[in-house]
Amino acid sequence: MPTPLLVANWKMHKTNTDGTEFLNTLKQQSWPTDRQAVICAPFTLLPLLQQSSQGMTLQYGAQNMHWEEHGAFTGEISPMMLTDLGCTYVIIGHSERRQYFNETDETMQKKVHSALTHNLIPIICVGETLQQRRDNITNQVIKQQLNTALTSCSTEQLQQVVIAYEPIWAIGTGEAATPAQAQAVHVVIRQFVSAATQIIYGGSVTSANIQQFMAQPDINGALIGGASLEAGTFIQLVKY
Ligand code: PGA
Repeated sequence: MPTPLLVANWKMHKTNTDGTEFLNTLKQQSWPTDRQAVICAPFTLLPLLQQSSQGMTLQYGAQNMHWEEHGAFTGEISPMMLTDLGCTYVIIGHSERRQYFNETDETMQKKVHSALTHNLIPIICVGETLQQRRDNITNQVIKQQLNTALTSCSTEQLQQVVIAYEPIWAIGTGEAATPAQAQAVHVVIRQFVSAATQIIYGGSVTSANIQQFMAQPDINGALIGGASLEAGTFIQLVKY
């Protein structure tokens, strides 16, 4: 069984002062050794995480990156800039990036390939809209997204990636998928990767529902937005 992976997605939240406070609270806690905790922070907080996570069983990463190593791409961040700051993970293809910044399955593929080349673990996000679920094409949508995103991955790389199933209708709405709905899609995803690959669920995860998700055989962790912003709640989620 893969180690349970709890990933905070802070989105566009927290200044340096907020981040410092959060990490100070975490430092006072004892951490379970059988869990993997990750914070995906805004770029501006990565130096803080680099300094403050030392001695903690906490890893961190970014929420996006460009696929090129450098170049004339105003406003973008490269994989080398992330590894330079000690990042281990990077979220790729989050639905908010698709919705507001025109990201596609094709850009996701380039980013996945680039992340793996630079020893970053991509957290690859897939998920259907409410309409697609109503039209009964959820599995088809997920397969299409994964087929494109994972095209260039070797068998070995398929064990290194993390797949996050995030139904778009469940993100930030307070209306999580049921554990059974999530498990059913995770089974579809499992066919693309290996038994050792971490497949995590995201979409309105809270300390009230985390346990039910983690009880499902193919759910190996969670990608947590809103509920990860408060240190006490994040700790509860890690210790579910
Ligand atoms: P949420 O966000 O937990 O606030 O629903 C999850 C995500 O977007 O990764």
